[in-house]
Amino acid sequence: MLIAGNWKMHTTSAEAFTLASRICESVHSDGASEVVVCPPFVSMRAAADAVAGSRIMLGAQTMFWETQGAFTGEVSADMLLEFGCRFCIVGHSERRGRFGKSDLPANLLAYFSETDAVVARKFSAALGAGLIPILCVGETEKERAEHRTEQVIQTQLNAALCAGTDARFVIAYEPVWAIGTGDVCEPDEADRVCAFIRTAAKKAGTSEQFQVVYGGSVNAENARALLERESVEGVLVGGASLKPDEFSKIIAIGDEIAK
Ligand code: PGA
Repeated sequence: MLIAGNWKMHTTSAEAFTLASRICESVHSDGASEVVVCPPFVSMRAAADAVAGSRIMLGAQTMFWETQGAFTGEVSADMLLEFGCRFCIVGHSERRGRFGKSDLPANLLAYFSETDAVVARKFSAALGAGLIPILCVGETEKERAEHRTEQVIQTQLNAALCAGTDARFVIAYEPVWAIGTGDVCEPDEADRVCAFIRTAAKKAGTSEQFQVVYGGSVNAENARALLERESVEGVLVGGASLKPDEFSKIIAIGDEIAK
């Protein structure tokens, strides 16, 4: 069971230290689930200091695939490993330029414009460096309405998993329409799509060492129903991971179900 928090572009260093410290204080030190928080790069040091010696692990929200060089503004896997990062989110829909709800015109929405090919490079670079990538896949509202959910996810998976790997990774089913909207996916449907992802990833000939988690408007109220489903092996939490009491409740639910 993996409970991961994506802090997105929230928390200065001081805020990250406080948030991570409060999460550490309110979770059991020996719970059965794995817990990861993913702060912004510049708050990583503060978060690392706060979680030192605790069960909370660190992840990054993205990375670049090259090890070093003239790539202004980018961060390599080695830079993340130096902070003790174990995980790295890759291909989040916000980085792919796919948003559930936004007032921005289409040409501005794609400001990061990550393609499947870019995500695939990040995925294999993370694995190669010894990080555990959390690969985000999922359909938009329009794609769901057109009954293209499986097709879209299959394409996203094929691109990233084509290289094959024996190392551990995580796939997060994050329906774009559920992210930051409060419109959580029905647990039965999340379970069905997570099961589809498991089968598809196995067919792609990858290692057995992967988990499939759900993300999109997860909170302390709906986490149990999701985590109790057989194919949902964890959650990737955005907004609710910024509230230490709420995130700790989700962790406690994960610990209970993981026992
Ligand atoms: P949310 O974000 O929980 O705020 O919907 C989830 C995510 O983007 O990973």
